[in-house]
Amino acid sequence: MNIAITYASMYGTTTSVAQELKRYLDQKNYTVDLFDVMETDADVLKRYTLVFFGVSTYGDGELNPVAEDFFTKTKELAHSCEHTKFAVFALGDTSYPQFGKSGELTHEILVSMKAQVLQPILTLEASPFDEAVRKIEIWADEIIKQLAVKC
Ligand SMILES: Cc1cc2nc3c(=O)[nH]c(=O)nc-3n(C[C@H](O)[C@H](O)[C@H](O)COP(=O)(O)O)c2cc1C
Repeated sequence: MNIAITYASMYGTTTSVAQELKRYLDQKNYTVDLFDVMETDADVLKRYTLVFFGVSTYGDGELNPVAEDFFTKTKELAHSCEHTKFAVFALGDTSYPQFGKSGELTHEILVSMKAQVLQPILTLEASPFDEAVRKIEIWADEIIKQLAVKC
C-alpha cells in the first residue's frame, strides 16, 4: 500500500505531527511520502491508496488559510481520486469553543468532492506532544487495519 501524508500548517505544529506519523509508518515498512499542501499539486495525491490529511483550526473553528487556498485550487480533486481514500487529522486547542473543527470541515469538503473519507476523524491537541504522537499512532493503525479489511 502506498501512503501519502499531506499537511496544511500555519506555524509548524501540524507539520511536526505529520513528520512523527511518517516516522512511525516508515518504521512499519510502509512506503510513505510527505507533502506540504503549499508545495503540492492535488493531482499528485491520486497516485496513492491512502492519504492522511493533516489540518489545523483557526479563527473561530475554521480551516487554516493554507488549507483554504489548497481546497480552492483543488475543486476537481475527487473526480480524479476515486481510488484514493483519505483519513483526516485535525489540530486544535481545547481552550477554543470549536475544538479541532477544521477536521469536520475538511471531511465535508472531501465528501462534497466525492472523495472517500475513512472514519474516525482524529482531533488532536499538540500538547503534550508525546501524547499527541501516541494518539496519532494508534489512530493510524486503526485506519490502516480498516483499509486492509476493505481491500
Ligand atoms: C488565531 C488562532 C485561532 C485559533 N482558533 C482555533 C479554534 O477555533 N479551534 C481550535 O481548536 N484551535 C484553534 N487554534 C489553535 C490552533 O489550531 C493550534 O495551535 C494548532 O496546533 C496550530 O497548528 P499549526 O501550527 O500547524 O497551524 C487557534 C490558534 C490561533 C493562533
